[in-house]
Amino acid sequence: MALVSGYHHLTMSTHGVQEDYDFYTKTLGLHSVKRTVLFDGVLPVYHLYYGSKRGDASTIITTFPFKKPGIYGRRGTNQTRTIMQAIPEGSADFWVDRLNARGIAATKGERFGLTRVRFAHPCGIPHELVENPDDTRAPIVNEAQGIGPAHGIRGIYGGAVAVSDLTPMEEFLEGGMEFRREGSDEAGSMWIVPEDSGLHSVVELILDRESPQGTWTLAGGTVHHLAFNTGNEENQYALKARLEGMGYTDVSEQKDRNYFKSMYMRSPGGALIEIAWTVPEGWAKDEPADAIGRSLVFPPWFEDRRAEMEAGLEPAEF
Ligand SMILES: [Fe+2]
Repeated sequence: MALVSGYHHLTMSTHGVQEDYDFYTKTLGLHSVKRTVLFDGVLPVYHLYYGSKRGDASTIITTFPFKKPGIYGRRGTNQTRTIMQAIPEGSADFWVDRLNARGIAATKGERFGLTRVRFAHPCGIPHELVENPDDTRAPIVNEAQGIGPAHGIRGIYGGAVAVSDLTPMEEFLEGGMEFRREGSDEAGSMWIVPEDSGLHSVVELILDRESPQGTWTLAGGTVHHLAFNTGNEENQYALKARLEGMGYTDVSEQKDRNYFKSMYMRSPGGALIEIAWTVPEGWAKDEPADAIGRSLVFPPWFEDRRAEMEAGLEPAEF
């Protein structure tokens, strides 16, 4: 059995807090799942989580809005380029119209035989909504935002990673992560992420030898990492051992993310990869399970910094 079952979440560094929150919860109709702060480093920066109402793994998109600290990154190669979410078949036109009506330029395209809506987050990070006929997850309905079951986003479809050389990243995905090649085209390749439920989510690779190297630090306007779900601690440590045994020795120690436990490694294609599993209490650790994502919460180890961090965060209406 594979040590990974689907995505856990996708994370990027964005720009303004308000535009980020409105983009995901209003334009795309996701629900706020958690509102906390960046756990690494010392800067007070929000960490915003969006997804299905219950916060199911494989629906979670998270952001660090970096406008206030004024840290900006460079999009380029050897970096994750595109955030992809699945939508129901036949809903692409709805999204093209909805996005364009809101001043977000959106076009319909295709790759690997799948219809996609291409647009960008207000901070510039490319996004795609992909019609995936194999995806049976319930659409994320948001009546208040006019998004019904025929159009709602189903969750993560995957990340597209730009690489200056395909081979080392393909060797990592196939030999290290045990992903399966599903297709290749003139621009790169497509890899199926193993998933116990049979759902198809993917990593797509885009060969890009022209662009400068993208920023690897936490920096606005760039994708930070792709997180895959190991389901439990045993699989996480088994995958760490497997990767280290292959010579990928930079898998980090386990980090406590309060709601889940994470390890990170820099893949040969430059994209930062996380392997994570949700702790039993999950999002209900610090908010009622039926009212998650409604308040600003801090992990226990930041309680002594709460006042200072709150004062340093960029103001926004949630
Ligand atoms: Fe993460």
